[in-house]
Amino acid sequence: MARRKLAAGNWKMNGDLATLAEIDALCAEHPEPGCEVLICPPAVLIHAMKARTADCPIAIGGQDCHHAVSGAHTGDISAHQLKDAGASYVILGHSERRAHHGETDADVAAKAAAAHEAGLIAIICVGETEAQRDAGETLDIIASQMAGSIPEQATARNTVIAYEPVWAIGTGRTPTNDQIAEVHALMRDRLQARVADAADVRLLYGGSVKPGNATEIFAIAHVDGALVGGASLKASDFGGIVAALQASG
Ligand code: 13P
Repeated sequence: MARRKLAAGNWKMNGDLATLAEIDALCAEHPEPGCEVLICPPAVLIHAMKARTADCPIAIGGQDCHHAVSGAHTGDISAHQLKDAGASYVILGHSERRAHHGETDADVAAKAAAAHEAGLIAIICVGETEAQRDAGETLDIIASQMAGSIPEQATARNTVIAYEPVWAIGTGRTPTNDQIAEVHALMRDRLQARVADAADVRLLYGGSVKPGNATEIFAIAHVDGALVGGASLKASDFGGIVAALQASG
């Protein structure tokens, strides 16, 4: 199975119904993208975005889900509910969830298992803080987050791994190409212990990806696409990243 390149946008807590005009523009600009294009809007927009993209091959995803199928969990959303609303992906274990909501590797693994059960593709995020990088702990942190966050039933069909260094998110700073290459090579290697078809699992880089640096990042070995925050909100910026991924072959 060839690894289909993936340009994924994480809108975080941004956007409203009016912002869906950006999706119209993205679809008009890339009616047949040569890679997979995914937008993960706030959950309240999934249904409307799905309806709006009926004629456009953009996939839609959630940004988190609960590990339970249903129940007394005020404010939470289940993987099944995301799927029912039109999602095919869900981002899990984003560093903002780990930092602001205390999510552990075990929580992320349970959520990913629930996502798989519901038929969603889980994008499991890992990444070191700046202090951890400065202390020389990056590779150990990534290896241990992967060991704890990827559930038993993960395969290349239901799981994507995103490397998002916490210090590169929303800061305009990015790791060097060598630093990205080193982490992605480790991720590919560590997947072999967790997933039977490890060579086919897509690995994304995330953290201050822009049209201006995308081409360089997509040329790095084992980088199969990007998870994009700020630059996914405007069709003009995200379209540039999609074009760079398409051109990366
Ligand atoms: P930025 O692209 O805004 O740095 O955000 C990255 C991110 O957190 C995507 O999940």
